[in-house]
Order: sequence, then C-alpha cells, then structure tokens
Amino acid sequence: PSLTSYHTFALPASCQRLIEITHLDELRTLDIKEPFCVLGEGSNTIFIENFAGSVIVMKTKGVHIEPRQNDTFIRVAAGENWHLLVEKLVDMDIGGLENLALIPGTVGAAPVQNIGAYGVELAQFVEYVQGYDLKTLEMRKLSKSQCQFGYRDSIFKHELKERFIITEVGLALPNHWRPNLSYGPLAALSPNNVGVKHLFETVIAIRQSKLPDPKIQPNAGSFFKNPVVSETIAAALQRRFPDMPSYPADSGQIKLAAGWLIEQAGLKGFSLNGVQVYEKQALVLVNQEHANGDALKAMIDVIQRKVSAKFGVNLVHEVRLIAATGEVALSVE
Ligand code: EPU
Repeated sequence: PSLTSYHTFALPASCQRLIEITHLDELRTLDIKEPFCVLGEGSNTIFIENFAGSVIVMKTKGVHIEPRQNDTFIRVAAGENWHLLVEKLVDMDIGGLENLALIPGTVGAAPVQNIGAYGVELAQFVEYVQGYDLKTLEMRKLSKSQCQFGYRDSIFKHELKERFIITEVGLALPNHWRPNLSYGPLAALSPNNVGVKHLFETVIAIRQSKLPDPKIQPNAGSFFKNPVVSETIAAALQRRFPDMPSYPADSGQIKLAAGWLIEQAGLKGFSLNGVQVYEKQALVLVNQEHANGDALKAMIDVIQRKVSAKFGVNLVHEVRLIAATGEVALSVE
C-alpha cells in the first residue's frame, strides 16, 4: 500500500502492510515480526524509502472530561486530532493548551516529541501516558516523570522506541489559569484582560502567518531542532553575529534559533529537486512538487553542511525519517 497520504510531507513510498487500529482489542491480535512503525496523522514522520515492514495507524477515538477539585482531568484516545481537542477545551473555557493550537497531528503522537510552542510544552499538563507494550504484551501506564520529557524528547524516542504503542493520554489542566505570554509576539497582549479564546485565536493567526498548511503545501513543521550549545560557544557566536537570537535553556546552556542560522546561511527560499526551504520560515521544508526521498536527503545535507561551515553548529533533524528497515538519523558529523 502507498504511504503518500499517510504522512504530511507526502513523499512517494509504500509499505508491506498497513494496519489501522480503531479498537484497542485489535492491538492484542497484532503479530509483528518484521520492522514496524506507528503513525498518527504522520505529521512528524517522513518515509524516505519504501518501508519493508508494517505501518500501524492509530485511529481510536474518545475524549472524557472530568472536573476535579483543583483541575480538569482529560482522558483522550490516541487517534484524536490534537487541534480539535484544544479547540473543544477552549470552547468550554478550559485554559492551558491554547498556546499549542494548530499543531498538526494526533494526541497519541504528542508525547513522543513533547510538542511545544509559544512558551508551552505538552509535558506541563501530562498526568500519564498509557500504551501497549509489545515486549510484555501488556497495557502499561507511565507517569509524567517516567516519560522523561525533554525539549522535543521523551522515553518514547529512546528506551520505548519500536516497542510501545501509545493508546491514551491523561492530562490535568489547573483551574487557576494564567495566560502564558512569555513568547515575544504574544507579549503585546495584556495579561489582565486576555481570555483563553483570544489567546487561542492569536496563536492561530501567528502560526498561519508563517507556517505552511500541510494540506496545501506538504510539510512536517519545524524540520530541525533548535540547537542547544554551551554558554561559551553561544558567547563566541554572539560576538561574531551580534544580531543572533538566543534563549536560555536547561542547566546554563543556550538554545539557538535554527531558522535564523539557516536563513543566515543564505538558504531561505532555496529549492532543490522539488524540496524548498520555506520562504516565510527557514526551519520548515516543503515538498514543492513531486519530491522524493533522495531529493529530501540532498536538501538535508546541503543545510547541515552550510550551517556547520558558517557557524560550526550541527543541526539535528527533529522530524523522524523512516528508511527501508527503520528510522535513520542523518548528520554530517
Ligand atoms: N528566524 C529567522 N528566520 C527564519 C525563521 C526564524 O530569523 O526563517 C528567527 C525568528 O525571527 C526568531 C527565531 O528565529 O527570532 C525563532 O523563530 P520562531 O519564533 O519562528 O520559532 P522557531 O524557533 O523557528 C520553534 C518551534 C516551533 C514553534 C515555535 C514557536 C522547534 C524545533 N520549533 O520554532 O515548533 O511553533 O518555536 O514557539 O522548537 C515544530 O516543532 O514543528 C514547530 C513548528
């Protein structure tokens, strides 16, 4: 079967077997020996070759919302669309997730890369992540700390990779809502009179102004992670490039803006064999016309080399690339 419509970058690729899960019982009957890959809406996964294994697509539905004393508890099935969940909560005036509006993909995929935007990360609200462990053949619930969340990172990309199928996410949204306006473009809003809905709509407007809609221009969001470097390296770069944006990260490190580095390397709008560095946001690559896996690999190589040559920084792709027998990491190191 073709995978083109199962991943938003929409490269031509196929797999051996495509299994759509609509009921959890179906997980117990899975018999997987060959390589496999789990998908939600495929907005952070790109098939760069034909995949010689099974693709499991999570399509389970269900949202349960329960007011508790200090927060609202929300239990959501993996196959629910993330943005529709955020919208539903905003319509009920339940705040917390509004900065994460319009992030493509499903609820089940959200914890894998710990989705984040505009100063908010999913991890802040996770109570647990439940899933099916293909090693023990049992359902298992991981607490937030067991998920080992980091910047665009979690245990599901490491220890539980190719072993755990997320089936449900439990969230806790505190009743005491405060708008998060820490991200530059949101700072213009007034914390005293901005409501959940207004913030939600502002985030949508910002995203629509610089991010391409995957339904119109196939893409997978930010392609690379924002690199985190030591204070020493950041200071040396800052001396050479005084306009370079940077942000404090964990344990005294500094996060750089990959989009800025790519733009300064002269690549914004650059296109090669049908893959383009998006002209409004250089951290996003778009499948302009009939690109294939080789074209994408060539583009990744050009970007990593140019940024490394100019800044000495290695860009790591955040999007997951799936080749014939499984996930691959491309780097110039
Ligand atoms: N910049 C440029 N040129 C560009 C792009 C960005 O100079 O072409 C500069 C901007 O002016 C700004 C800085 O780089 O000073 C950061 O840019 P932006 O605010 O657009 O955010 P980002 O760092 O490129 C990250 C996330 C996005 C998230 C936004 C907003 C990652 C990998 N990406 O992008 O997440 O929406 O912040 O919080 O952390 C995603 O992961 O798919 C994603 C879209």
